[in-house]
Amino acid sequence: MSVQQASRPKVVVSPIILEDAKEPPLHLYKNKEPYMGTIVSVERIVGPKAPGETCHIVIDHGGNVPYWEGQSYGVIPPGENPKKPGKPHNVRLYSIASTRYGDFFDGKTASFCVRRAVYIDPETGKEDPLKKGVCSNFLCDSKPGDKVQITGPSGKIMLLPEDNANATHIMIATGTGVAPYRGYLRRMFMEAVPTLKFNGLTWLFLGVANSDNLLYDEEFSKYLQDYPDNFRYDRALSREQKNKSGGKMYVQDRIEEYSNEIFKLLDDGAHIYFCGLKGMMPGIQDTLKRVAEQRGENWEEKLSQLKKNKQWHVEVY
Ligand SMILES: Cc1cc2nc3c(=O)[nH]c(=O)nc-3n(C[C@H](O)[C@H](O)[C@H](O)COP(=O)(O)OP(=O)(O)OC[C@H]3O[C@@H](n4cnc5c(N)ncnc54)[C@H](O)[C@@H]3O)c2cc1C
Ligand SMILES: *[C@@H]1O[C@H](CO)[C@@H](O)[C@H](O)[C@H]1NC(C)=O
Ligand SMILES: *[C@@H]1O[C@H](CO)[C@@H](O)[C@H](O)[C@H]1NC(C)=O
Repeated sequence: MSVQQASRPKVVVSPIILEDAKEPPLHLYKNKEPYMGTIVSVERIVGPKAPGETCHIVIDHGGNVPYWEGQSYGVIPPGENPKKPGKPHNVRLYSIASTRYGDFFDGKTASFCVRRAVYIDPETGKEDPLKKGVCSNFLCDSKPGDKVQITGPSGKIMLLPEDNANATHIMIATGTGVAPYRGYLRRMFMEAVPTLKFNGLTWLFLGVANSDNLLYDEEFSKYLQDYPDNFRYDRALSREQKNKSGGKMYVQDRIEEYSNEIFKLLDDGAHIYFCGLKGMMPGIQDTLKRVAEQRGENWEEKLSQLKKNKQWHVEVY
């Protein structure tokens, strides 16, 4: 154990029985019979200059809706579906931002990282509250003790492969896309999980608008101090930083900066993950393709190889 690790001991988690299953839990609660969870806390986690609001929300599931890192829950917001009178709203999915033990390490809560969806009227340039997002606003406005209907867990694409504790994981996020990675990183660096002695490399690329919009930055910065050989963390602040040709610094520009290392790691079997808004993928794919061409490689072939090897994990919404 290195000196740095000794200075901040890992947190003991329980119940350890949550490590026993061979397969992830799936669809324990369905839309017709959701689980009634309880809001534990809702916290705004962005600074005053962040465009928009993002909240960290902890939900008590009493240990009844277990999940693995990288999975999502569904939420059915209260009220009537405007498109189907008399029926409940459609379910909305949220990536779980905690480990299976939750933020209190007792296996009873799940956390979300939710951005309020607002509607800006293109004519007036002002917010139209009548058209704001139903579920994200319900969640961000909720209070401790409020009830919340959850479904799931769902999703297998973003599960963390744990067969090799020495593996490399390259995690690309924009905004709330960081949610599943917060879970992975807590599992690797914060919790004393007997079945995972992580000693590989994880490299997080996080793209947000500005420094007030950085999510979980303190938590991630601690891992940098404690595990400098196992964690790398690069931020792209589109409204504060410039890329090398003077344009806005997007996450793909940071990827390009380190592209030789990234390609080498992928060739050596690294996993690469993408999570966040759908709109992030075209720019990233263009950059990866351009880099591949500069290296004399065929991107389409490389991509299909990565997919075939199960190294390529995408969950965008
Ligand atoms: C796998 C997965 C994981 C996800 N994880 C996360 C996550 O971790 N965090 C997160 O924040 N989100 C996440 N999402 C997105 C989330 O599921 C919701 O889509 C999001 O919160 C918006 O839902 P809402 O109910 O607030 O908005 P909705 O009510 O569904 O509205 C959608 C959009 O339409 C706009 N709108 C409403 N009425 C009108 C109108 N009349 N005209 C024009 N526009 C209108 C709203 O302002 C809003 O922007 C995830 C999605 C998926 C599929
Ligand atoms: C991981 O690396 C350590 C040494 O760094 C080695 O002892 C161990 O066998 C490796 N494990 C795997 C699964 O490769
Ligand atoms: C930087 O930004 C400009 C303008 O948006 C863009 O055309 C370019 O591809 C970006 N990346 C680099 C490395 O210049």
